[in-house]
This record gives sequence, structure tokens and C-alpha cells, in this order.
Amino acid sequence: MNKLTIPGPQPLPLIGRTILLSKFVGDSLGFTSQLFEKYGHPVLLARGGGTNLHSPLDNCPGTLFTYGAENVQTVASQHEIYYKYPLTGGLYRRRDESPRTEPLKHFGVGLFGVNSDEHRRHRQLLMPAFHQKRIESYRDSIVEITESILQQLEVDRVTNIAKVMRKVTLKVATKTLFGVDMGEKGSKSAQLLQKIGILLGSPMTSILPFDLPGFPFYRMMNLMAELDENMREIIRSKQDSDRDSGDVLSMLIKARDAETGMTLSEDELLGHVSVIFSAGHETSANALTWTLFLLSQHPEIAADLLDELDSVLQGNAPTVEQLQQLPLLERVIKESMRVLTPVPWNARVTSQPTVLGGYEIAAGMEIWVSIYHTHRDSEIYPQPQKFNPRRWETLEVDNFQYNPFSAGSRKCIGAGFATMEIKIVLAMLLQKFRFQCLPQQKITRSALIVLAPKGGLPMLVRQQDREFNQGVGGLKGNIREMVELI
Ligand code: HEM
Repeated sequence: MNKLTIPGPQPLPLIGRTILLSKFVGDSLGFTSQLFEKYGHPVLLARGGGTNLHSPLDNCPGTLFTYGAENVQTVASQHEIYYKYPLTGGLYRRRDESPRTEPLKHFGVGLFGVNSDEHRRHRQLLMPAFHQKRIESYRDSIVEITESILQQLEVDRVTNIAKVMRKVTLKVATKTLFGVDMGEKGSKSAQLLQKIGILLGSPMTSILPFDLPGFPFYRMMNLMAELDENMREIIRSKQDSDRDSGDVLSMLIKARDAETGMTLSEDELLGHVSVIFSAGHETSANALTWTLFLLSQHPEIAADLLDELDSVLQGNAPTVEQLQQLPLLERVIKESMRVLTPVPWNARVTSQPTVLGGYEIAAGMEIWVSIYHTHRDSEIYPQPQKFNPRRWETLEVDNFQYNPFSAGSRKCIGAGFATMEIKIVLAMLLQKFRFQCLPQQKITRSALIVLAPKGGLPMLVRQQDREFNQGVGGLKGNIREMVELI
């Protein structure tokens, strides 16, 4: 066994660890690319440990980064060792006996905050809501929502496409999660969830977690309390009506453990809804945004894809059956999520001492596995920076070499849903519009929980005119580090 110390940068005295933490938060992919190049992997955020990015446990021994199919497999398949914690991360620790912190006990817990047998039990209860047939029943809602957003797009105008995609996926998430019967109340919950998500993602909320007027943590706790109240009313009225209104929540309310007959408690339901909502819309929105961007820079692929869409769909939205008849669309999405993977990291905390990459790892260590770097192994993907959907005509990989939805028992429960949503939205958008980058446009990444273009992605919206060569090349920003561009 290798007893050597895990390598990593030597932090400066006093503020060294804070500097390294803020470098990671500022640009997690750029910073870790430098670490991997200099020290190899696994690598510590700071030599000697003593850092904590998201673990809610006391005395976190440090933060480790790694990547590669072998390590993905180790982490994804050793479910009893690599634990996951609620979405609130370090803030989860702030729950106490006061009613004020009550929402922290369930917000963002859902499937994210349970492990071992508890995770297995919850996952089984959730599975029927994500069953293929159930997912397919959401097709009409997705088409209807996309249609209404398409009508709002103005031709020959520069539009923030990231914002538009977020609007589509937010509406889809709201409708499929809460159902039509909850109209206003469902939208209210969705708005609150979105506002909480923004505050949770802001470093200031974690750095200054004071429950005093004026502080973001205080605002977040107010919103969480409001969300709880609103959601409890929704749950109770759905329980009273006792009918399956076709949405995810009513399915979860009815879910019953086959052996014990147990159902999900109100707090557990709140936890699941917050996780499904948070996990389900930013991710898909970014996958859509990046795919539109990549197509705008690859005119031949964009032309071939439109030929495929036109010949199969002839201007219409795809039916569930037609979604299987669009192989290039499938490969475009697959390759987009390889190159610009919407969820670049899988983060875990070790529940016990273990061994990873030949190094002894202490219990409580934060382990961040980079899917982004795993997808850039040139032995598996020749010219890894190249956006080349055609590589999937012949390339075969396993679940650990390619895993935008993660792998093992924690694989994204919404993968089927997301794939259908992305295919439908793209098929409808591309038949009507062409999206063009602006001259000298600067595109930089923001990458912590999701990989997104910083500040959104302004693009010129054109009627679909097949002028795919317009707006190609000359782009600036660190997008050029991530994908080969003209
Ligand atoms: C392109 C879109 C999406 C991507 C790239 C994505 C990616 C992921 C990844 C990588 C994980 C595992 C995270 C980890 O292991 O740390 C995950 C988990 C999860 N995702 Fe997704 N996701 C997407 C869409 C969705 C949608 C639409 C939903 C729900 C409607 C959803 C719900 C979940 C849930 C509940 C989990 C937790 C699973 C568990 O721990 O058992 N995701 N997702």
C-alpha cells in the first residue's frame, strides 16, 4: 500500500486554504486542470488537507480531486463508502432545535441526502414516477410548453438563449412535478425553489450564514419557510383528492413500500420535491444551451441534423415513436454532453477509511470525481476536444468511461426524462430557427454544480434559413480550452 502523502499545492500560512478554496469556486475546471497537470491525480485541494467545500460533517480532513473511468467505477460502485449529503452542503450543519432552521432538516435532502439502505428504499419508492411509460406521458406537456416559448422568440434579435432554455425547462419541471391542478400554487413553489437555489449557490450565503435581517442566509430561511407552507398545502390537497393527477408529486404521495407498506412522510416529500426540482431543470437547460452553441459552430453537422429532422418530422413536433428514429439527434446530444458535460462533478464524502488510486483515504474526506476530465481521455476519445457526433457511430464505451448522468446506484433517476425533453425541444427549435453566435463573442464558463456559460449565452435568432456558415469562428474566452473551434 502506498503510504505516501497525497500531493497538492502547499497553502500559504493563514489565508492559503481560503485562497485555494476560492480558486476552485471561481473556476473549478480551469483550476483542477492545472492541479492535474502539475501533480497528477488524486490531488488534494491543499497539501495536508484541512479544507471543506461541501461536507456538513465536523472535522473534514480535506478535499480530494480525481477523474478517470477506474476511479469513477470505484466511487460509483462502493455505495457504502462514498456517501452523498444534502444539497445544502455545509449549511446542513446549521439546523438546530429552533423552528427557524426546521426547513434545513429536509430541504435538498431527497435522494441526495440519504445513503445505504435508506437510499435504496427511497429510490425504489421514486422509481415508478420515472418509469418509461410515465415519462412518455409528459411528452404532450413538453411539446405544448416548447410551442408557447417558440412563439415568443423574436427573429433577427439577439436573445439570451440560456435564459430561454431555462424558461422552457422550468415550466416543464413545474408542470410535470406539481401538475396542472395546482396552477398558481405550483408556480409559486417553483418560484420559491428557484430563488432559494440562487441564494444557495451564492458563496456569500455559506461564508456569512447569519440569520439576521440583511444577510442572504436570513432571506433564504424566510423563503424556505414560505416554501414549506406552500408545499404542505399542495401535498395535503393532493392527499385529500386521492387521485393520480398524472404528475410526479401525486405519484410520490401514493408510493408505498412493497414489503413494509410504508409511505413517504410529508418532510420526506418536501425533500424529494426540492431535489427533483433543483436537479431537473438547470441541468437540462444547460445541456440544451450548449448543444445549440456547438451546432452553431459546426455547420456541416447542423445541416445534416436538419435534414434528418425534416425528413422524419416534416415540420412537426416528434411523437414518442419518432424520437427513436433520429439517430443523429441522439449522437449530437450524446457528444454535446461528453464535451460540455452539464454536471461536471460527482461529489462524495467517505463514510470510512478506504483506498483510492493507490492512496489511503481517511473517513470524512471530500472526494470530487470529475466527469468533465473523464470524458477527455484521448485513448477512449481520439481528439477529445473535438465535437464529433459521428464518433458514436462506431464507438462503444462502458458506463464509467461515459457518464454525464453518473453511474451505479446513484445514476440520475431523471436521465430518461431529460433525454426525451432535450430531444423534443431541440427538434422543435431547430426546424424553425437557426441560432448564430455574435462576432468576437466571448464565452466563459461557470462550473461548480452545473457547467453553464457565465452570464448566459446571447445568440442571434434567425428564421431557419440553412445559412449555417454564418457566425462560425472567431470566438473568445475559455470556451476555446474546452472545445476545438475555428
Ligand atoms: C441533462 C440533464 C441532466 C443531467 C446531466 C443530470 C445529471 C445527474 C448526475 C450526474 C447525477 C448524479 C450526481 C452524483 O452522483 O453526485 C444526477 C442525479 C440525480 N438527478 Fe439528474 N441530471 C439531469 C436531469 C435530471 C432530471 C430532469 C431530473 C428529474 C426530473 C433529475 C433528477 C436527479 C435526481 C433525483 C438525482 C439523484 C439520484 C440519486 O442520488 O439516487 N436529473 N443527475
